[in-house]
Amino acid sequence: MITVLYALLYYVAFIVFAAGVAYRVWGYWKTPAPAVIPTTPAPVTRTGVVWRMFKEVAFFESLWKSNKWIWIFAMMFHLSLWLILIRHARYFVQPVPTLITLAQPFGKYAGIFFVLGGLGLFARRILVSRVRYISSPSDYLMLLMFILIGFSGLMMTFVNKPDVVGVKAFFLGLMTFNWQPLPTDFGVLVHLGLVALFLIIFPFSKLVHAPGVFFSPTRNMVDNPREKFHPVPWLPSIDEVVYDEPPGKK
Ligand code: HEM
Repeated sequence: MITVLYALLYYVAFIVFAAGVAYRVWGYWKTPAPAVIPTTPAPVTRTGVVWRMFKEVAFFESLWKSNKWIWIFAMMFHLSLWLILIRHARYFVQPVPTLITLAQPFGKYAGIFFVLGGLGLFARRILVSRVRYISSPSDYLMLLMFILIGFSGLMMTFVNKPDVVGVKAFFLGLMTFNWQPLPTDFGVLVHLGLVALFLIIFPFSKLVHAPGVFFSPTRNMVDNPREKFHPVPWLPSIDEVVYDEPPGKK
């Protein structure tokens, strides 16, 4: 019964996640950005923009410039998340590639920093009054959800080992439409329930900032409005524009 429930939950969650993210990205893609508005000083070539974007995505450059404390917690949280996801890849592929095997211990301890980073970001929302002022309930709930996902994961890894082989069989079964029983350890059910919730909420939440950052005009534009004419597609071309006589000249 629980296996069927979680299997259906994961199919729904995956479809909502994939279709939702595709829909949001499509929306960003189609949104016109006619004005050249990169945050200056900005790169003047495409390669420069790629480099700027890389520094932003990999090292949160603009956050580093604005606030070192948030930067530390944000880096801790996101870097650990990457290591955790790489470690988790072992549940979805068979045989497990060597690189993923080598990453296992890093991913294991990254879990601790993930939860600490999440707690730091949560504390910031409560303790810094101007951040508290602009925080909505979903901002707290998202962080809480991540902290609980991390915490339930750590409990399984360091306190109550679940049947990880069974968990893997369940996920491989989902992927090949050959369902296998899900181990019903409490930790597994909580962890996987929260992860499914996260997948469903993701496309509708502020978490879409992950793909969204690539579409940010202030970051992805080349600073060349003097060198290059940027026509606005829905306005008449420059030769067709008939300017009014300046007042007083008539
Ligand atoms: C947003 C997604 C997820 C996050 C942030 C997350 C986080 C974590 C963390 C921090 C740990 C403890 C450290 C570790 O052993 O790696 C953990 C353990 C675990 N996670 Fe996840 N997890 C996620 C998704 C999943 C999914 C989709 C599965 C299903 C395959 C899963 C299954 C497990 C299991 C079985 C453990 C215990 C591992 C062990 O005892 O060695 N997690 N998770």
